[in-house]
Amino acid sequence: MLSIALPKGRLGDDVYDIMKNAGFAEGDINNMGRKLVIENKEAGLRYFLVKPSDVAIYVEHGAADLGIVGKDILEEDRADVYELLDLGIGKCRMCVAGPKDFVDDGSRTLRVATKFVNIAEQYYESLGREVDIIKLGGSIELAPLLGLSDVIVDIVETGKTLKENNLDVLAEIMPISARLIANKVTYQFQSSNIDRICEKMTEVIK
Ligand code: PRP
Repeated sequence: MLSIALPKGRLGDDVYDIMKNAGFAEGDINNMGRKLVIENKEAGLRYFLVKPSDVAIYVEHGAADLGIVGKDILEEDRADVYELLDLGIGKCRMCVAGPKDFVDDGSRTLRVATKFVNIAEQYYESLGREVDIIKLGGSIELAPLLGLSDVIVDIVETGKTLKENNLDVLAEIMPISARLIANKVTYQFQSSNIDRICEKMTEVIK
């Protein structure tokens, strides 16, 4: 039996729907009562829901064989897993954003607030720009409004949060979408089984 860690929330629900359409799952994963793990014996798959930021940890340590995770978390955590499939859902962009009239004239160290410290560091390093990274846990858009930072590095989905706070996208760092990941050791021993699941998922997504 292979286990799959799904992220709690809409993305996890959407992926569970894909698995149902692929014939790999049944019922409603949010309606399991007190059960934390749901099994589909015919498909040989076991599902459980975890915090989105924990999915890659479960997979890297082999507590889950497969997982669904956003590319943002995968890049930020640099998890040692195989990335097998871009599901093309949960799409958004990792961006630099700031006040509409902000211009970085390079005269002093740029202050950048973000949850994604590694992604931000790597991005500014590639530009050769010296930055002070300020790590926040959420509501990143507040930082430039209150003078905590000059700009932010954050996820932009609809752009509504930026707009409502008079902020603009200043640069796009990378497109984000949900990925299917696998534990490296499991993949070595179960590659044909896992490839079959990938193929079926790809058919359903199309
Ligand atoms: C994310 C992100 C932005 C917002 C972008 O926040 O950090 O704040 O969504 O979405 P939009 O472009 O559609 O407005 P999330 O809701 O995850 O909460 P957070 O502030 O705790 O990060």
